[in-house]
Amino acid sequence: MRARLEERRQANALRDVLPPTPLIDFSSNDYLGLARGGELAARVAERLYGLSMVGAAQAGVLRGGAEAGLHAQARAGAEAHLHAQARAGAEAHLHAQARTGDEAGLHAQARAGAGASRLLGGNFPLLEELEAHAAAFHHSEAGLFFTSGYAAQSGLISTVAARGDILLYDALVHASAHEGMRLSPAARYPFAHNQVADLTAVGESAVQRAAQKGAAELTGASAPSGTPAPQVFVLVESIYSMDGDLAPLAEIAAACSQRGWHLLVDEAHAGGLAGPHGEGLVVELGLEAQVFARLITYGKAFGAAGGMVLGSALLRQYLINYCRAFIYSTGPLVAQVVTVQEAYRLVTAADAARRHLRALRRALVDGLAPCWHLPGAPPERDSPSAIVPLYCPGNEAVLRLSARLASAGYDVKPVRAPSVPVGQERLRCCLHADQPEPDGLLGVLGGGVKAPPFKLQ
Ligand SMILES: Cc1ncc(COP(=O)(O)O)c(C=O)c1O
Repeated sequence: MRARLEERRQANALRDVLPPTPLIDFSSNDYLGLARGGELAARVAERLYGLSMVGAAQAGVLRGGAEAGLHAQARAGAEAHLHAQARAGAEAHLHAQARTGDEAGLHAQARAGAGASRLLGGNFPLLEELEAHAAAFHHSEAGLFFTSGYAAQSGLISTVAARGDILLYDALVHASAHEGMRLSPAARYPFAHNQVADLTAVGESAVQRAAQKGAAELTGASAPSGTPAPQVFVLVESIYSMDGDLAPLAEIAAACSQRGWHLLVDEAHAGGLAGPHGEGLVVELGLEAQVFARLITYGKAFGAAGGMVLGSALLRQYLINYCRAFIYSTGPLVAQVVTVQEAYRLVTAADAARRHLRALRRALVDGLAPCWHLPGAPPERDSPSAIVPLYCPGNEAVLRLSARLASAGYDVKPVRAPSVPVGQERLRCCLHADQPEPDGLLGVLGGGVKAPPFKLQ
């Protein structure tokens, strides 16, 4: 271990977890400022207080009969809690349960942890409500919640892609997609980032090879009879996490539909930002019917944590039955579910914040234009993406630039090899709706960064 860590240190690539800094945040994925803004935390505290009061009251009911229960409610301030519930809206069913004396229902809501896998008693109504809400919000038939986006993505891919199937993936997909592919017995092939022609060329030749292999096996003595035709799964992100660019999703979806390939879209960095109310890029482009599955993660614009796989009811049922990351893992905390529910309320109402974020992006891209010296095109000016890469090749150079910005008060994290390919090291600059114009940052960048791609103007 020591030797391997030393290797990292020598390459200026040693990772560490550091305490939070007082610097201006150009680094986190909290694009709408919900994680740190206070309002989400306050709403969650209110909801959890309400639920805990129900729990206290209910414990009284179960222990000492209805009268003791009422007494406990009075003691615990049940009225305040009912008021909070009424305001929060989503807990109307708790009132209904209270009215109809559905004790088991109340008790089920008043837990802290799931207590087990969802298949072994760890399921609860709030969680199913969240899944139904997410499905409706993102125009999907069904949703299945996981405690992290990483688990959702790796679980989804490793479960749906079986032996004999084909996985085609954009060269820049996230580590969680690679994890899913690693766990799947399907053959996998990369295609050049965002290149639809390469996707179809790589995919068609993979399908042809699989057909030839299948034909050869069928003539052999051990050929399994009735082997199903390989299914093809295509993995892309709607907004890429390191480059912040958008996939040509409409073209990719059309190419997949024409060939009967299944498209899986990771919307981790588009959820909450793209779409009329943050539904994601698939909804913005009206491609819901052409997408096999989507991943929404809640640790970025939603300011919470967790991941939702969106797809058909059939897919949901299949995952419940076969996805190991779902089956063999404890269900989420009630606090996590409540936080995501409240995040949906704030995200849905964040149209002005989304507009401001787009204006910030235009200001940053315009400001960078004079010092953009990369062979590739500069970042899109008008985009729902909050990520702008500032390329600075070399681990040492990008660390130096990041340190320089930090000394001027800006937290812009360096992304080094091996997280990105050697030569593509960059500062990953993330914009936030609760921030003013990036003039100060641009001033520091433009005022003395001599190494390419930034030059003195
Ligand atoms: C593109 C992408 N997909 C999936 C994930 C995993 O999501 P989570 O952080 O919820 O595990 C991330 C997080 O970094 C990501 O950037």
